[in-house]
Amino acid sequence: MNIKIVKDYQEMSRKAAEYIAEKVQRFPFIKLGLATGGTPEGTYKKLIENHRNSRTSYRDVTTFNLDEYIGLSGNHPNSYRFYMKDHLFDHINIVPANTHIPKGDAGDSEEECERYEKLLAENGGIDLQILGIGKNGHIGFNEPGTSFQSKTHVVPLTSSTREANARYFNSMEEVPSHAITMGIGTIMKSREILLLVSGEAKKDAFTKLMNSEPDESFPASVLLRHPNVTIIADEAAASGL
Ligand code: GLP
Repeated sequence: MNIKIVKDYQEMSRKAAEYIAEKVQRFPFIKLGLATGGTPEGTYKKLIENHRNSRTSYRDVTTFNLDEYIGLSGNHPNSYRFYMKDHLFDHINIVPANTHIPKGDAGDSEEECERYEKLLAENGGIDLQILGIGKNGHIGFNEPGTSFQSKTHVVPLTSSTREANARYFNSMEEVPSHAITMGIGTIMKSREILLLVSGEAKKDAFTKLMNSEPDESFPASVLLRHPNVTIIADEAAASGL
């Protein structure tokens, strides 16, 4: 693991964006795995700036998002499709048809999971996966106890994850109860992983990750088995090490 500790959220975002943009410039046909949540927002902002200033082109890039809420269409302001359009896709020259996110409003979610997993395989898999981490160690929406072999699947969200994400909704009742997520096995097939960790709220999760053995009770610990992981963490997140 390649671990970089940086000063704060701004620096993490800047470093992460530089890292990603450099890969996109070197490999114009790169397949990027993207995450949502508060953590990568700053990184996407910097990628947009970088696109405007240095004209990094996304014309030939394909993206796959980790997850989506079940029951929300891509036009719903709390859907991850909407988040991605708002925070990145609408501001760079990516081809909308090359941006893939599980469909939260697919009639049959199980079928949607199969379609998504197949689509990933047909595209040759992900070259660089960007990841955040939940307070309980979840990656994507893979909650503690998820099999390390899991493929794209439907998950009931734990109350702690629903509470953590409630800040984006009007009320707790509006937070969906289920999501579709790439599985841990799916994520592990990525050729490279970039994990971003920021803030005091992630201190315990990051400390645990750095001091654990791979164990399904703590999903992020699977990354200890991956051959090519870079972590960019800020000082607040790393203060327990
Ligand atoms: C959500 C997302 C994850 C994300 C995590 C942390 O549940 N499904 O992909 O990494 O929460 O979110 P945040 O970055 O807002 O702390």
